[in-house]
Amino acid sequence: MKKIGLFYGTTGGRTTGVVDEFEFNLREEAEIFNVENGIAKLTEFENLILVTPSYGFGELEAHWEEVIEEFKTLDFTGKIVGLVGLGSQTTFGESFVGALEVLYNIVLKKGGKIIGLTSTDGYNFEECEAIVDNKFMGLVLDEENQDDMTADRIFDWLEEIKKEFI
Ligand SMILES: Cc1cc2nc3c(=O)[nH]c(=O)nc-3n(C[C@H](O)[C@H](O)[C@H](O)COP(=O)(O)O)c2cc1C
Repeated sequence: MKKIGLFYGTTGGRTTGVVDEFEFNLREEAEIFNVENGIAKLTEFENLILVTPSYGFGELEAHWEEVIEEFKTLDFTGKIVGLVGLGSQTTFGESFVGALEVLYNIVLKKGGKIIGLTSTDGYNFEECEAIVDNKFMGLVLDEENQDDMTADRIFDWLEEIKKEFI
C-alpha cells in the first residue's frame, strides 16, 4: 500500500486527539498534515484521509474553509479518499456532521473515488446532509457524546479502507 496522506482541520482541538489515534494505528503508513499549513502536499498522495469537524450549521471547519477554493481546483482522478467527520449529535443534531458532504461532493465532482461509507446505526440525530444510500459519507466520530467508541470506530474503519487503498 502506498503512503496515506491524512489532512485535518481543527478549531477547538478535539480533532487533534482523533488524529493522534489515527497516527497510533497507521504509524509510518501515513503522513499527517494540518490544513492550517496549507494543502500543497495533497497532490503527492493517491491514498487520502480527510478529516473535518462541522461548524456553523453543518459547514466546514474554519481552516478547511480557508483552503477550500484551492481544494476545488485539484484533480482527484486516480485518488482514493476516505472522509472523517466530527460533530455532536446532541447539540447539533439538526446539522450533524454536515461538513462531510462538502468534501464528498467536491472529491466526486473532481474525479476521486470515495471509500469508507459507514452505517448510521448507533448514532442518534435529527438531520444529516452527509448521508448517501442510507450510509454516512465517511467515518463519523462524536467526541462530545461517544468518545469511548472512537478508538474502536477508527480501528474498524481503517481495517476496511486499507483493503481499498492502492
Ligand atoms: C459553534 C459550533 C458549531 C458547531 N456546529 C456543528 C454542526 O453543525 N454539526 C455538528 O455535527 N457539530 C457541530 N459542532 C460540534 C463540533 O463539530 C465538535 O465539537 C467537534 O468535535 C469540534 O472539533 P474541533 O475541536 O477539532 O474543532 C459545532 C461546534 C461549535 C462550537
